[in-house]
Amino acid sequence: MGGKTGSLFWDSGPALVWLHDIRYLLYFALIIYIYKNIFMLLRRQGARLAVNAASGPDCNWGRMMELLLQGLRAAAEPTRLRLLSLCAHAELTVTELTQILGQSQPRVSRHLKLLCEAGLLERHREGTWAYYRLADVSECAHLARTLVDLIPDCNDALTRDLGRLGAIKQVRAATAADYFRANAERWDEIRSLYVPEQDVEAALLNAVGDGPINDFLDIGTGTGRILEVFASRINRGTGIDLSHEMLQIARAKLETAGHRHCQVRHGDMYNLQLPTSEFDVLVVHQVLHYAEDPAVVISEAAQTLRPGGKLLVVDFAAHDQEFLRADHQHRWLGFEPEQVSAWCAEAGLKAQTPRELAGRRLTVLIWLAVREGVTPS
Ligand SMILES: C[S@@+](CC[C@H](N)C(=O)[O-])C[C@H]1O[C@@H](n2cnc3c(N)ncnc32)[C@H](O)[C@@H]1O
Repeated sequence: MGGKTGSLFWDSGPALVWLHDIRYLLYFALIIYIYKNIFMLLRRQGARLAVNAASGPDCNWGRMMELLLQGLRAAAEPTRLRLLSLCAHAELTVTELTQILGQSQPRVSRHLKLLCEAGLLERHREGTWAYYRLADVSECAHLARTLVDLIPDCNDALTRDLGRLGAIKQVRAATAADYFRANAERWDEIRSLYVPEQDVEAALLNAVGDGPINDFLDIGTGTGRILEVFASRINRGTGIDLSHEMLQIARAKLETAGHRHCQVRHGDMYNLQLPTSEFDVLVVHQVLHYAEDPAVVISEAAQTLRPGGKLLVVDFAAHDQEFLRADHQHRWLGFEPEQVSAWCAEAGLKAQTPRELAGRRLTVLIWLAVREGVTPS
C-alpha cells in the first residue's frame, strides 16, 4: 500500500502508537469488529455442520471443519481481506491487483496463492495471463461470499481500492468501445441482410422456455452478447472463446453491466475441456459457419449437456452471399436444416424442426436439440 499513515491495514509498529492516535483506535475497533463477526460465523457454521453431521451419513464433519478453518485462517489478514473484496468486484490479474494495492508483486502473489489454496479465490489462465475471481464453485465459495459481505465498506483503504479498480474498469471499457467503433461498419454490412438481432434474441429466450437455468454455456461467446441476453435468466453463465481480444471485450462488457455471475474463459470449441453433463442450456450463436468441422463442435458441446438439457444452434440457412466467404471468412454459406439436425442426432440429441426468421437476403435458423433423459434429483 501507499504510505503507512492513515492506512487501516498498517500491520507493524509499536502498539503504543495506536493509543496515541484516535484514528488507530477506530481502526483497531474495526478489525475487532471483523474478527468478532468471523468468530460468530465460525460458531454458526459449526452449529450447522453439527446438525448436518448428525442427520446426514455422508457429511464428513472433520473435512468440513478443516476446510472452514483453513478458509478462515487464509482470510484472517488485512491485505487478504482486501484481495477478497476486490476479486468479488471483478476478475483481476496479479499486475492489476498489485497496482491497486500498491504492494510488491511477490507479496501480492503470495497472498493470492494462499487464498486459492484455501478455495476462497479461483484462478484461471488465459494465454500468458492469470485471472483471479472470488470462488463460486469450490466448497468454500459460500464462506468466501460471506466474508466479503462482512467487510465494512466505510473505510478509506477500501474506498481507495475500489476507486483504483474503477479506473482499471474504465480502461477496459474504453478498449471495448474502440473495438466496436473499428468493426461497426463491417458488422452493420452483415446485419443489414437479416432480421434485427433483438428478434433473434427474443426467439432464443422463448425457445428455452420459462424454467430455471442453473448452468449456462455460450460457445464462441465473442463479445459476450448472448451471456448478456440470458444474464437475468441464469444462475451461472460461462462463455468460451478462442480469441483473447474477444474475451477481454466480453469481460469488460459483463463487468460494466454488473453481471458478476457470468464469466468468460479461453477455450477451444473442438476441445472444451469442461466436465460432462454440467450444463442445462448451451448456445452456439453465429459460430458454426466459421467451423471447419461443425459436426465435431456439436458432438463436443453435447457431452457437456445434462440429460434434459437444451442445445440452441443459431446460424444462417444455406445462401448464396459469396462475399461472406471472400470478405468475412465464413467457411460455410449457411446450412440446410436437416444437416444440423443430423449432426445433433449423431451427438445423441433430439432436434426439432428449426425456427426460421427470414430477413432481406439471409434467413436465420434456430435449432433446438434436447439431450434425452431426466436429470437425477
Ligand atoms: C461471429 S463471432 C460470434 C460471437 C457470438 N456468439 C455472438 O453471436 O455475438 C464467432 C466467435 O467464434 C469464436 N471462435 C472461432 N473459432 C473458435 C474455436 N475453435 N473455439 C472457440 N471459439 C471460437 C471467434 O473467436 C468469435 O468470437
